[in-house]
Parts: sequence; C-alpha cells; structure tokens
Amino acid sequence: MIKDESPWYLNAVFYELNVRAFFDANGDGHGDLAGLTTKLDYLQNLGVDAIWLLPIYPSPLLDDGYDIADYYGIHPDYGSLEDFKAFIKEAHRRKMKVITDLVLNHTSDQHHWFQEARQGPDNPYRDYYVWSDDDQKYASARIIFLDTEDSNWSWDERAGRYYWHRFYASQPDLNYDNPDVRREMLEIARFWLELGIDGFRADAVPYLFEREGTNCENLPETHAYLKALRSFMDQNFPGRILLCEANQWPADVREYFGEGDEFHMGFHFPLMPRIYMALRRSDVAPLEWVMEKTPSIPENTQWCIFLRNHDELTLEMVTEADRQWMWEQFAPQPRMRLNLGIRRRLAPLLDNDRRQIELAYSLLFTLPGSPIIYYGDEIGMGDDINLPDRNGVRTPMQWDDSHAAGFSGAPLDALYAPLVSSPGFTPQEINVADQLADPGSLLATVKAMIKLRKSLPALATGEFSWTVTEPEISPNPIAAYYREDDQQKILILQNLSPDRRSFNLKTTTNTTYGLLTGNSKFNQSNGELTVELEPYGYLWFELKPS
Ligand code: NOJ
Repeated sequence: MIKDESPWYLNAVFYELNVRAFFDANGDGHGDLAGLTTKLDYLQNLGVDAIWLLPIYPSPLLDDGYDIADYYGIHPDYGSLEDFKAFIKEAHRRKMKVITDLVLNHTSDQHHWFQEARQGPDNPYRDYYVWSDDDQKYASARIIFLDTEDSNWSWDERAGRYYWHRFYASQPDLNYDNPDVRREMLEIARFWLELGIDGFRADAVPYLFEREGTNCENLPETHAYLKALRSFMDQNFPGRILLCEANQWPADVREYFGEGDEFHMGFHFPLMPRIYMALRRSDVAPLEWVMEKTPSIPENTQWCIFLRNHDELTLEMVTEADRQWMWEQFAPQPRMRLNLGIRRRLAPLLDNDRRQIELAYSLLFTLPGSPIIYYGDEIGMGDDINLPDRNGVRTPMQWDDSHAAGFSGAPLDALYAPLVSSPGFTPQEINVADQLADPGSLLATVKAMIKLRKSLPALATGEFSWTVTEPEISPNPIAAYYREDDQQKILILQNLSPDRRSFNLKTTTNTTYGLLTGNSKFNQSNGELTVELEPYGYLWFELKPS
C-alpha cells in the first residue's frame, strides 16, 4: 500500500524523451536542453512525475549517444552543463523528477580511455577494456545487434589485439574486473547526482562481467558491483533511484532487485510484447502467462512498464514461434524488422486505431508497475521505417502544423531527422496543438488517465488478481482483474477483441461499482454486473460499500 512516506517512484508516471527530438530552441535543427526547458509546462500539464532523458553526453552518436566519448559533459548539440542545471532546476520547480542514462557497460571507441588503451600494453588505460589475442573467448555469449555484428570481438589494428563489445564494434566494453573502472563509474555517478538528478536508468546492466563457460549475463560479480553502486548512492545520495535495464525473463530481472538492496526499479520487458500479442489474438492468455511468471518483488521496489521505447520493440523475451508470428502480424515489411524486434511506434503498430491505442493505455495504467510513456506516443505519433537503425522512432516531436512541426526554426533540410511524412501521421494530421484544443483527442484521454491513475495508488502497488466473467469463452478476449490494497479495490474490464462483448460478473454484496472511466455500457442489479464492452472497450470501477 502507498503511504504518505512511500518513495515517489512507486506511484509515478514516467516520460521518456530524446533531447535531440523534443524542441530546438536555437534553431540549428537539433533539439536542445534549452528547448526542453521551455516545454516543461507541457509535461507538467500532461501530469507526468518524472522525465527520463536518453544520453546527453558528448558522443559520435553511432549509437545515438549510448556510445559515450566523455561522461562529464553535454553533447554540444544539446547545450552546456549550465543549460542542464537550469533544466533540472525548472523541472524540480514543477515538482518533476529527472533521471538520466548511466551507460556502465561500454564507452565509445572515441573515449580517451580507449584511445589510450590502444596505444600499448603498458598504457595505464589498457586494462580499462577487455582484450584477447583471439576471438574465441566467451563463445557462449550471444550477439545482441544481430543485424550489424557477427562477433562480440573486433580487431584493433593499433593494439594488435581483439577487444570485446556486446553492442556495436564502436562501443568497446569496459573491464569491470579492473578496480579502476569500478571506481571511475562511481565518480561519474557522483558527478551527475551532485548536479541534482534524481537517479539513473542504468543501461545494459547484465553484461558488466565476463566469465568463461557462461553466457556472460547476470553473473554474480555483476550483481555484486550493482549492489556496491546502490550502497554508494544510499550512503551519499539517499532517495535517488536506480532503474534497471535488463532485457531478461522476469525471474532473472527479479535478481536485480536483490533483497531491496540493488535496483529500486526494473523494466518489465516480457510483459510488453504480450500486450500486443493479446490485442492481436483477442486473447488474454499471453497476459495471464506473463503475470503468472512475474515474481513478487521486495518492498519499496517497483516494475517499470511500457508500451514502446526508443529501441525496436524487442521480441527477445518471446518464443521463436511467437516471434515469427509477431513479425508476420506487426512487421509485414522487411524494413519494419530490426535485430530481434520491430522498429515501429505504438500508433502505427496498432493500425492507428484509436480504440486499440486507448485500450493499450488502459492496460499500461492498470497493470502492476509504474508506467513510462515514450515521447510522441501520447499523441499517437507515427514513424519512418526508411530511416536507418532505430532512427525511425526518434523523429522530431510534432508540436503543431507550422514549419518543421513547430519543432525548429531551421530549414527542413537542416533538421537532424526528417519529419514523419506517412499519410495519417504527418504533423498536419498529428500534433500537440490540435490535440490540446480537442477534448476528445488521444492526448486528452491519456492526460485524464494519468490523472486518474495517480489518484488510485492501488493501481500502482495493490495486489493483482484475475477475475472470471460469464459466460466463459475460450480463447477469452476479456482481460478482467482487480487491483486492491487495504484502502481501495479497483475492477478493470477490458475487451481485447474487435467485437462487442456482453457478459456478467458476480458482484460482492453491499458494494457499489462506481465508474472511474470507460467507454462502454454496464448495469448493476441483482448481485450481478451486466456489461456490454464496445470493441476494444474498457471500464474501470472503484468498489465501495453501499
Ligand atoms: C540499450 C539502449 O536502450 C539501446 O538504445 C542501446 O543501443 C544499447 N543499450 C547499448 O547501449
């Protein structure tokens, strides 16, 4: 149950954004921190509690900033440390928290550590990275960026040795067996925490250590280091949080919460594809399966749940057969696929069907965990599958239908990425200004859901339990569940199918089913709730003694 003194992140709505894509204040075609600061009112008005910034460090941007060249600075396109401080101050003034990406596992090959390390075996930075004379070590480690890399080892001509990298070859992995590396990372964390951020989204944490004969993921040494990072934060910056990015099965992610002494939060990767699966199959079974597999987590820790993010919609956490089916269903064109995933945004994935998009949000706001909204998805922005890598889901935010979607004053050919131009998704059709002015817009609905969700702490931390509707049919298209703590009992009814569905639900005696939100009809009488859910319809109730 949420208490007054409960940590803020247990019942928070997060908003993930790319500074480059949000708003360009200086008119150079790239979004910047000053621009983001001017848009804080928008985010406050939307009702989000916390902002997660994608990497903002100096970087050659070969992995959009996850390839860091200097941990202590700001990429010049985005502004300066002064701009960053001003942004933090303004966010905090509006009672919003800010977390930033902490990329522990690797640097850019442009980082001076790597440039030095290549110079020779005696260089003090040599052991900052993982080297080998051949490319056969750690052969059981999988390759993650399957479309571009064929080995986790790359040859460095200058060093005359191979170096280890779990992601792009331009991102050498740091060597966590080296105490200097472990210490450097704590200093980097200290630097940003002293600037006032509220925590980190820690990138790619399963891969910090390598051990022969293992898949080099989730190793005990990795957990031990992450616990040390947590303890460093608790001692020096109490109240700041760590959010775990581990694209792993729930039982493996569970380990990252430790006994409440490792991460405060962890992304729930396996849930996400099953939301799409359940919708497309009109079957609650994938959701039942994943909830069944979701372990309980320690007190004061929380899942982070999401519909989409800045990466491809990952299908790593589904079976091979389900992956093929998801690709057929959601990525019929080869360009829509990337690695083991799908590079499309929420609205295009759901056929730009308002009913399905709203239902996806209903699931996001009512399943256990703190929801994260990916910038632009609150207005149903589209994507551009013709752009390379994951850039198609990282296009400029569509503020209005004026020049450059109101994102920048720069000429269109100077924008860091083109505006979305696919029919149905152009800035003329999808933009913030229009939706702010329209009480029936997706944006208005999402905003209302955020507000409601935050007023119902049982949705954040209450017990989750499925309930049965009658007549029972198989496959069952109704996702019906309770969320309950000792203050509140919420009933959620959702129709995963494109057909209208009528059913009954036994009601508890002396209880009134008060409608919280929804778009369908119901009637309570004679110990039953008679419901007629619209196609992809939903109803949220609060149960109160009558
Ligand atoms: C996960 C990030 O979300 C992704 O964008 C990045 O490419 C990899 N980690 C490597 O840092």
